[in-house]
Amino acid sequence: MNLLNKLVASSLPFVPKSIVRHFANRYIAGDKFDDAASAVHDINADNMMATFDLLGEDATTDKDAIAAREACKNVLGEISHQHLDSNLSVKLTQLGLKLDRQFCTDNLLDILEVARQVGNFVRIDMEDSTCTDETLEIYRAARKSFDNVGVVIQACLRRSEADVRELVKENANIRLCKGIYAEPEHIAFQGREEVRENFVKLLDLLVENRCYVGIATHDDAVVRAAYRLVQSMQLDAHEYEFQMLLGVRRELRSEIVQRGHRMRIYVPFGEHWYEYSIRRLKENPDIVGNILRSVFTSDHAA
Ligand code: FDA
Repeated sequence: MNLLNKLVASSLPFVPKSIVRHFANRYIAGDKFDDAASAVHDINADNMMATFDLLGEDATTDKDAIAAREACKNVLGEISHQHLDSNLSVKLTQLGLKLDRQFCTDNLLDILEVARQVGNFVRIDMEDSTCTDETLEIYRAARKSFDNVGVVIQACLRRSEADVRELVKENANIRLCKGIYAEPEHIAFQGREEVRENFVKLLDLLVENRCYVGIATHDDAVVRAAYRLVQSMQLDAHEYEFQMLLGVRRELRSEIVQRGHRMRIYVPFGEHWYEYSIRRLKENPDIVGNILRSVFTSDHAA
């Protein structure tokens, strides 16, 4: 992101929530599960899979973490009941990671048990680098009893190659993404090209070792590299999937599906939409520019 875009993005916290909501609507399915289920019905009708994400992070009380756990279990039940082609993504801080690690692990295991009963899969999202070690440790603890769980690796992190080299030995199911959190230089690559190169290198490692990988990107260059890799390794379409976020680059996702690759759309929903939306909006300086313009003009009544 160039300096001007960075300045514009850092102004976002000062924008009224109602305006942020107006522009964030493209990235979130709605406040309620039914809104998200309806989005997933449409996604499935377009020959794509989905993953539900109940918005929320950093639970500050046991009560909030338990409420999130129960809501996640309900989502799994509804997926089964409504025959949706979707799994579930969870964030460990939402399940109490910052409160008590064992409590968080137990909440995750409880969700995984329900997922197993209904034949579904749960992906643990990766949060900022203060959570990486614990997230991988909890993932590994869960794997001792469950094989319906996967984790996320962020290509921007310098440590990720070492993590991937261990995870391939465990036949892990990995979502590979660039990483959304701002991290210092000693922890993360800062250059766009460096992150891209690391993404492709890690993807190569995962594919070579026949790990199931969710290729989570909207970057043309990375998508093209993935096409080449999948072809050269002669992967079956069921050995990997592409993944994209709701509301981002619909034309690219159609192209990927038309080429015969599987696609999963990340479908966030819930009342805690603000933090997620701010992260998405910061990725899209054009929209941020529109938001700021609307703060200073009168066309933001919606
Ligand atoms: P990049 O940011 O370079 O975007 C490529 C192009 O896509 C841009 O030039 C733009 O045209 C378009 N684009 C990207 N974002 C856009 C937006 N918000 N609005 C409009 N256009 C946009 N991160 C993380 O740290 N932990 C996680 O668990 C996950 N999980 C996850 C799941 C899935 C399914 C996806 C797709 C992504 C994540 N991410 C994530 C986010 C990820 O790390 C990354 O921040 C974004 O995907 C953006 O990176 P790209 O690879 O798309 O490249």
